[in-house]
Amino acid sequence: MKVALLTGGGDCPGLNAVIRAVTRQGLAYDWTITGLRDGWRGLLEKQTMPLDLASTDDILPLGGTILGTSRTNPYKVDGGPEKVVAGLAELGVDALVAIGGDDTLSVAKRLYEDYGTKVIGVPKTIDNDLSGTDYTFGFDTAVSIATEAIDRVRTTAESHHRVMVVEVMGRQAGWIALASGLAGGADAILIPEFPLTIEDVCELIDKRAARGKPFAVIVVSEGAKVLWRSGEAKEVLASDELDAFGHVKLGGVGTVVAREIKKLTGREVRETILGYIQRGGTPTAHDRILGTRFGVKAAQMVAAGAWGMMAGLKGDSVEAVPLSEAVSSWKLVPRDMWELARVFFG
Ligand code: F6P
Repeated sequence: MKVALLTGGGDCPGLNAVIRAVTRQGLAYDWTITGLRDGWRGLLEKQTMPLDLASTDDILPLGGTILGTSRTNPYKVDGGPEKVVAGLAELGVDALVAIGGDDTLSVAKRLYEDYGTKVIGVPKTIDNDLSGTDYTFGFDTAVSIATEAIDRVRTTAESHHRVMVVEVMGRQAGWIALASGLAGGADAILIPEFPLTIEDVCELIDKRAARGKPFAVIVVSEGAKVLWRSGEAKEVLASDELDAFGHVKLGGVGTVVAREIKKLTGREVRETILGYIQRGGTPTAHDRILGTRFGVKAAQMVAAGAWGMMAGLKGDSVEAVPLSEAVSSWKLVPRDMWELARVFFG
């Protein structure tokens, strides 16, 4: 049996843990494991690397992915899906494990439905916005990095009596903002799911100042819109260029929020945009373990022929869930989590 592995979409702490785990479990089954380079592009161009004990030993603590990644979408390439199917046959691949977020797993699902491709998914994204799993790996690392950043900017906020705005990642869902804001004791959190207006945020800042705390830390998700009580709304983009999956590049909402708070309150305001720092570097122990569990489960699912399914975390166990469930809708922050965070605002 020959099993191929690819990592697609944004890089993410814990990818190497999954690669190592699928390989180790696969070798125990006596399979040959092949890595496809740079996501779906590796299949289109048939760029591979052998995965064995030598190439996967000691990669557990490494950030990024030893296979490389890309946002290549075979469904946007002329004859792309057919090339993918032909590529798998030419490489003699019996089964494919696709490790990625919504974009990568949507392609996996379509290949399974359109061509019967024998594919298993593994849920990756720091954004934690995939359905079908309680958590994705990478999220815990991103939240830890963002929380540390919030703790650090708080010292400047307090020393200089400033408002510090911290922008974190999170496109459709505000999971990173909510979790790091909760852990870092944010005075307000702006996420796409439950919007606050600029005026709301300024009132929370003033409320703190009135009880002798003339400083605040505000956490903003990159996907949050800037809203005003007048009903005006503004989406902030870093660039309106679309990637192969039709996404614009977000980034910069923190700067606009900081500017508007300054305008309305007259306070000193500064912003920090964490950006790719959240995605880089070594995974937390939690993400190493979750990635390892997902990887072993994915190999077991290959052995069981559970095609078109994904390894998902359900409570304390890792289970097989249909890819169609994973990519059907975004997993958004639920109201009870938002209400919990709000208790600590202002
Ligand atoms: O993969 C998730 C993510 O980190 C988003 O939060 C962010 O908007 C996007 O990736 C950035 O992607 P890129 O690496 O293509 O700039």
